[in-house]
Amino acid sequence: MEIRIFDTKEEIARKCADLFEEVIRDKPNAVLGLATGASPVQTYKELIRRVKEGKISFRDIQSFNLDEYCDLPQNDKNSYYSFMRENLFQHVDIAPENTHIPDGNAKDINAECRNYDEKIKRAGGIDVQLLGIGTNGHIGFNEPDALFSEGTHRIKLSQSTVLSNSVYFTESPMPAYALTMGIRSIMEAKKIVLIAAGESKAEAIYRTVKGEVTPACPASILQTHPNVVLLLDRAAASKL
Ligand code: GLP
Repeated sequence: MEIRIFDTKEEIARKCADLFEEVIRDKPNAVLGLATGASPVQTYKELIRRVKEGKISFRDIQSFNLDEYCDLPQNDKNSYYSFMRENLFQHVDIAPENTHIPDGNAKDINAECRNYDEKIKRAGGIDVQLLGIGTNGHIGFNEPDALFSEGTHRIKLSQSTVLSNSVYFTESPMPAYALTMGIRSIMEAKKIVLIAAGESKAEAIYRTVKGEVTPACPASILQTHPNVVLLLDRAAASKL
């Protein structure tokens, strides 16, 4: 694991965008694994700026998002579909048909999950996966559990996640379930970049880097991946 510590969120975002830019320059039709939450917003702003300046293009890029809430209308302001449209997709030259987000409202959830994994495989696998981290060590929506998950699946959100994310649900109740790529799908990415900022992430970062590899802290599995970069601010790195 490579660990880089920065003074500001802006510096983290610039470094993260640099890593994505490198992948896109090497492979203009790269497959990007994308994340939601507060952590990647600044990185997306950096990438948008670079597209507008003509430094990179998303014309031939394919993207796969980590997760989506279940039982939330696609156009709800809190859906990850809306999040991605507003924070990235509508500002760059990516073809809408090349962007993929699991459908949390699919009639046949099992088929949707299998199909999502199949699409990732058909695209050739993920070249670079962006991750945030939950305060409980979750990645995507892979919550602490007794086993590491495999492919895309439906999951009941943990107390801790409901507590962290319910602040966004001011007008509608927060969904209890979500679809998420599994730990195996995440670990199959060729490169992984995890970003974390703030004191609230310090314990999860400590367990990810120095703790035992255990599904009780899903991000700890990253210790076993050959190409992981952690971009942290001083507060998130304060327990290392
Ligand atoms: C959310 C997402 C994760 C994200 C994490 C942290 O629930 N499912 O993919 O990494 O929680 O979010 P934030 O960056 O807002 O702290």
